Amino acid sequence: MYNNSVLEHFLNPHNVGRLPDADGTGMIGDPDCGDYLKIYIKVRDEKLIDVKFEIFGCPAAIATASILTDLAKGKSVEEALKISDLDVIKALGGLPDRKIHCSSLGAEALHKAIEDYLAKKEFRPSLKQDGENLGERNVRNLQP
Ligand code: FES
Repeated sequence: MYNNSVLEHFLNPHNVGRLPDADGTGMIGDPDCGDYLKIYIKVRDEKLIDVKFEIFGCPAAIATASILTDLAKGKSVEEALKISDLDVIKALGGLPDRKIHCSSLGAEALHKAIEDYLAKKEFRPSLKQDGENLGERNVRNLQP
């Protein structure tokens, strides 16, 4: 049913765990009553320097989360936002048709984690890049 790549990522998933000092988190599903995936990201200089996940799901979902975190690590925030379900499925070498929906947990959770990071960045100057701060931005926004 599953190809070797999916089986390998299911049996030995990469990047499992939490990042207690994550800069962003994103969750899809509901841990109280079903499948869920939570992604943690650590960002430096607008690059995802670490990505980890916690999951409750089937082998396809676990393999998806494992390869997704591999794909996202080291990417810029902008590049990581472009990672799609299809990219994840391709990187795994395909999934059985009836398991395609499991892969949709992955990219969406990652995108939510990035959105969380971007939202926090607005209020945490320490996450901002050189030359970028709330004061400058607010002044720019006020100009006609
Ligand atoms: Fe629910 Fe795969 S995550 S069936």
